[in-house]
Amino acid sequence: MRRPAGILQGYWLPSRGEISHDPSLAAAKRGQGISGMESRGTAMTAEGIVLVTGGSRGIGAATAKLLAGQGQRVVVTDIAPEPLAETQTVLWPAPLDVANESAVVSGIAAIEAAHGPITGLVNAAGVFGKMHPIERVRMEQWDREVNIDLRGTFLVARSVGVRMAERRRGAIVNVASVAGMTSGPIHAYTAAKAGVIQITQTLAAEWGRTGVRVNAVSPGFTRTAMLEAGIASGALNRKRLESPTAMNRLVEPIEVAQAIAWLLSPMSSGVTGINLPVDAGYIAATTWAAYGGLREPPAAQ
Ligand SMILES: NC(=O)c1ccc[n+]([C@@H]2O[C@H](COP(=O)([O-])OP(=O)(O)OC[C@H]3O[C@@H](n4cnc5c(N)ncnc54)[C@H](O)[C@@H]3O)[C@@H](O)[C@H]2O)c1
Repeated sequence: MRRPAGILQGYWLPSRGEISHDPSLAAAKRGQGISGMESRGTAMTAEGIVLVTGGSRGIGAATAKLLAGQGQRVVVTDIAPEPLAETQTVLWPAPLDVANESAVVSGIAAIEAAHGPITGLVNAAGVFGKMHPIERVRMEQWDREVNIDLRGTFLVARSVGVRMAERRRGAIVNVASVAGMTSGPIHAYTAAKAGVIQITQTLAAEWGRTGVRVNAVSPGFTRTAMLEAGIASGALNRKRLESPTAMNRLVEPIEVAQAIAWLLSPMSSGVTGINLPVDAGYIAATTWAAYGGLREPPAAQ
């Protein structure tokens, strides 16, 4: 039986004309709850894949594993592709550099030809900012960070989003950072991540009338292997990363993945153009140091 297009996909909000054909959305509109949307958000679908860039490690890997565990068909790309153990994710075996325009354009076409239309995109590929006093910022390093983190996010979002818009279905989540909302001695990285937050709004407006949604998450310091290695080497100090957050801790990769999964799913069907911090309250607590610091909790009863 051919199901209405809106029910086939876990990732998109049907365009206005289609809403009236979708019983659960119609029920939601009548104020009768959104049951049924949950299952569509996590159901194995006959067509449509989620593409996760930078999915071989860190936040991308955690997201790919979570979505695959929820029954989504997930294709992982990376500049250094490595399969994810014990998951049903599909690894795109050729290295895909998100900053290389021709590689992105041909790679996206080849992935769709091989695995079907991309209905969910997670732009998780990225590199961290090198910390330098401003006089010592090398412009090759600036270009590398901006090219991968901002240009790469735009290139993949454009290649995938144009196709989604034509098909009137899709959701995109860009991984930005709290660094794009604050400042730090990581000049190119903060600028690139602020740019990611900005293009997220622009793309959301660009494709809004097609039903394609575009959102960002901004992780705080997240306990990936890379961050742990930095702490182990002494380059980073765990206490200094944890103590400015309201919750006094690092974020786990799975916590970022869960926010991304929500933004891809119909559970967030009315949400587009936002930047959702997943930061253990880092942004919320920014100014408390000026007032003497955050309160310690009373002794547990
Ligand atoms: N971990 C954190 O504390 C943190 C905080 C805020 C934002 N972020 C952002 O989250 C995203 C994921 O970072 P992570 O912490 O998981 O790092 P990670 O290094 O563990 O993973 C990043 C992945 O991107 C891939 N990659 C790098 N350059 C690429 C390129 N040119 N093309 C394709 N793939 C490329 C890497 O090979 C790697 O697999 C990044 O955008 C990062 O800026 C991370």
